[in-house]
Amino acid sequence: MYIIQGGETLSGKIKVQGSKNSSLPILAATVINGKKNIICDVPLIKDIEVMCKILSNLGATIVKRGNVIEVDSEKVNSFEVPEQLMREMRSSIILMGALLGRFGRAKVSYPGGCEIGPRPIDLHLKGLSLMGVDFSEGHGFLNAKTDGLKGADIHLDFPSVGATENLMLAGVLAHGTTIVRNAAKEPEIVDLQNFLNRMGANIKGAGTDTIKIEGVKIHDLRAVNDYTVIPDRIVAGTYLVAAAITRGHIILTNVITEHLEPILAKLRETGCVINSRNGQVELYVDKPMVSLESLRTLPYPGFPTDMQAPMMALLATVEGTSILTETIFENRFKHAQELRRMGANITINGNTAIIKGVKKLTGAIVEAKDLRAGAALIVAAFAAEGETVVEGACHVERGYEDIVGKLKALGAKIVKKH
Ligand code: UD1
Repeated sequence: MYIIQGGETLSGKIKVQGSKNSSLPILAATVINGKKNIICDVPLIKDIEVMCKILSNLGATIVKRGNVIEVDSEKVNSFEVPEQLMREMRSSIILMGALLGRFGRAKVSYPGGCEIGPRPIDLHLKGLSLMGVDFSEGHGFLNAKTDGLKGADIHLDFPSVGATENLMLAGVLAHGTTIVRNAAKEPEIVDLQNFLNRMGANIKGAGTDTIKIEGVKIHDLRAVNDYTVIPDRIVAGTYLVAAAITRGHIILTNVITEHLEPILAKLRETGCVINSRNGQVELYVDKPMVSLESLRTLPYPGFPTDMQAPMMALLATVEGTSILTETIFENRFKHAQELRRMGANITINGNTAIIKGVKKLTGAIVEAKDLRAGAALIVAAFAAEGETVVEGACHVERGYEDIVGKLKALGAKIVKKH
């Protein structure tokens, strides 16, 4: 649990960690080439630990030096992702595309991860079926098998991030051309393309809605000696919101401003002053903030669903009524109930939250039920009078590296207790 004393104004400068959602598929991708790959700026967080455990369980040799992870996949000799580890992290499903490419086989249990509504994998399965994969189920496992992946023209019903990544990974060694239409356009997809192309893959179009993957042969693939993942735009957004909720002043380094634009646009609309230059973003608040008539989560370049919870916490402290609609995930409003315990005035109506700003929040004992909800509750605690106890630190640790240290550096009063 985190124990937080509210009322401090956060100010200072911090360096943003590397992206979790880039590192995970890139680590999965290391399975494909059977060589030693070195990845830099990987965040030291729980989800990465789990991914590394899975890779070493498959037979890879992992060496960690701070934020640099070396994965040698030469000796990978298993295509079965252990059930326990799979349950700990839903995104381990992206190993399927990589394992199918390398072995033509993959065995995974049904994925675990955040408790944010049903998170089906039908789009992954439909796409891979078109590439010649047969699936059979049994005892909570999903068995995937192919005599050889073949290129296919795939139209996703929804631009799923995970499905797009899985199909890119599968396409690398497929016979022929794979086209993914209505693909996700998130910056992490572009990062995965860049990594795979460094490995010798032939992928074009990431960042647009059509991605084309020309299959290559495994002997065409090379080791990737040093690849640095992009900065984490959601972590950056969370720290910006933490500063804004205390009406503070923050400078973030290691950011790609363009990736942050959907978040910055909405923060500007609330009245925050934002300056960005030379890979830095500065935010401060010098006048009363204003509510948002409409904020909708959307696939990139829309406002990210992962920022919905922290933004809700911020809007709960802004005078006036804000309307926030979640269009990506069902059941992603569990934090609203916890924010209410802190005095927030939030009404949920289906996938819409109506937030009436209150003069002050008050400390309470609250529970984080998923990663971003945890971030939202911590942020809310800074604006609350008195002490807040946020339970569920394990969720927060899945995605934020040294969150206590970083927030303390900004002047927050936060400690972690077991
Ligand atoms: C990724 C991110 C997560 C982020 C999400 C949306 C990683 C490791 N995680 O998750 O932080 O919140 O993108 O930006 O990168 N869906 C289906 N069928 C499928 C796949 C998805 O119906 O086969 C639905 C999901 O239930 C959800 C929506 O599509 O409602 C978005 O899911 P998706 O884009 O796949 O998210 P993830 O890749 O799981």
